[in-house]
Amino acid sequence: MQRAATYFVTTPIYYVNAEPHIGHLFSSCLADSLARYHRLFNRPTLLTTGCDEHGQKVEQASIQAGFQNVQQFCSTNSNKFRLLFDSAGIDYSTGGFLRTSELRHVDCVSSVWNRLSSSGLLSKASYEGWYSTSDECFVSADDLVRSEDPVAGKEKFVMRETGQPVELCSEVNWLLRMNDLKSEVRKYLTSERVVVPDRYSESALRQLNSTPDTLSVSRPTSRCSWGVPVPGDPSQTVYVWLDALCNYLTCAGYPNHLRAWPPTDQIVGKDILRFHAIIWPAILIAMGLQPPNRIICHGHWLCDGRKMSKSLGNVVRPDEDLFNRLSRDGLRYALLRSGPVTGEDADFQLARSIHTVNDELVNCMANLASRASSPKIHRRSLPPVESHKDLLRHAANLNEHQFVEQLLNLSDSLHSQWSEVRIHHVADSLVSVWRSANSLFDRWHPWQLAKSDDAESMSKLDSLLVLVFASLRLTGLHLTPLCPTLGHRLMSASGVDKSDTVRFDSPIDSVLLCPRELAAPSASREHLIERREVL
Ligand code: MSP
Repeated sequence: MQRAATYFVTTPIYYVNAEPHIGHLFSSCLADSLARYHRLFNRPTLLTTGCDEHGQKVEQASIQAGFQNVQQFCSTNSNKFRLLFDSAGIDYSTGGFLRTSELRHVDCVSSVWNRLSSSGLLSKASYEGWYSTSDECFVSADDLVRSEDPVAGKEKFVMRETGQPVELCSEVNWLLRMNDLKSEVRKYLTSERVVVPDRYSESALRQLNSTPDTLSVSRPTSRCSWGVPVPGDPSQTVYVWLDALCNYLTCAGYPNHLRAWPPTDQIVGKDILRFHAIIWPAILIAMGLQPPNRIICHGHWLCDGRKMSKSLGNVVRPDEDLFNRLSRDGLRYALLRSGPVTGEDADFQLARSIHTVNDELVNCMANLASRASSPKIHRRSLPPVESHKDLLRHAANLNEHQFVEQLLNLSDSLHSQWSEVRIHHVADSLVSVWRSANSLFDRWHPWQLAKSDDAESMSKLDSLLVLVFASLRLTGLHLTPLCPTLGHRLMSASGVDKSDTVRFDSPIDSVLLCPRELAAPSASREHLIERREVL
């Protein structure tokens, strides 16, 4: 049997100058859910994540935090990201958690530099421009406004959008010639749906038009020493974005054998689209490597309608309290189910998230599982379901064809929703199955069927339970990319044993059919969702 190509998905690597917030967690949950979805088909996956530790911003933050040693500061803060991802169930075991201060990464960056240098695209020259340390890049004068708070006697400029200070730098840098590469990048960006959603593809092309013909790819060591030294030129440090982008290559094994390339999907927030859709493909093209298949760009989480920032004091931290209130899977569900996944910005409101989890996971899903396993209607064994025909027979017995059709179509329609990264629609489809299954109860009153023990009532009760448990098994499996624990609990509560899901090429077939007899099911709401707050 031919092995499926590896699904290779990356998250951005997170700056360690500040602690993680829900925006960071969201980027990683998105990548994790996509990888988990692909694993449902037994496809090998590679998910990479990690921390961006070099550059002036991190160095300054380390000094401000009173650390003597930047490396120590980075270790402390990157550990917070790692712990957060562990507690949120982000499975990076396949591709690893990379820190740019690791030796293997420094080696990778040096090799990339040497490759660019041998392509003749690098030259050393004077460069003058406005540098924004908060964005770690040179910015155009059009993005600046005069500061309202000038330093005595000196004109000061700040970034128009964020109010962050900039500095006029006139220095000697290594420059990457972009003019030839730009036309290659344009070809790449206009090939089939590289950047999604579409509006970000247009935005990337607009940004390409305003990209200068040369890109500074190093900083003088006297200005920034916390980074990778330019090979053969210790007076210069490799520019932090070039360094950071190489993380994807390090994780794939560069400069040694690449275990997968190019990445299938790269997740980025809209603020870092330019680096991933223009600079990164240009570098890869210059190296003779293929750029990523797709760049998935998401919007931002806001708080009280404004960008989260330390100075505004509106940063939502995914701390223990938030996990306790929503449950781990509830938090993942609330983040993935709405807002930024569509490319829009969205306001994070705890009350709204609690409402969503209560309404959809507790009242719809857990309630359904709980009703189906009520001792009042429990049957010691149910007729086995060995083919779609069996399901259709039970549907005919109840005249509930539409419901079975909904089940039989679910996997295909979810497939197209996952392919288009419409995760909110994935959730909608699951909720819609739970609602339909709940309404079977309202139509058939199974507790009354169970009381009258004539053959017809028993056969109707059997058919009802067969359909409902098939829906719980199938939706349980499809819930696992969003809510891994809950999805597995739902499956095991509805009679799927772990071995059932690996017997088939696609576990999806196995859970729908599930020929085993149903063991005494147990799926109280409390069993499925333990957290008080959302019950
Ligand atoms: N270190 C760079 C990325 C280098 S990748 C080679 C960086 N780091 S970051 O920590 O500032 O941001 C990392 C990711 O988090 C980005 O995709 C960014 O868009 C995302 N988010 C940061 N704030 C966010 C929100 N408020 N909402 C959603 N995502 C946001 O940029």
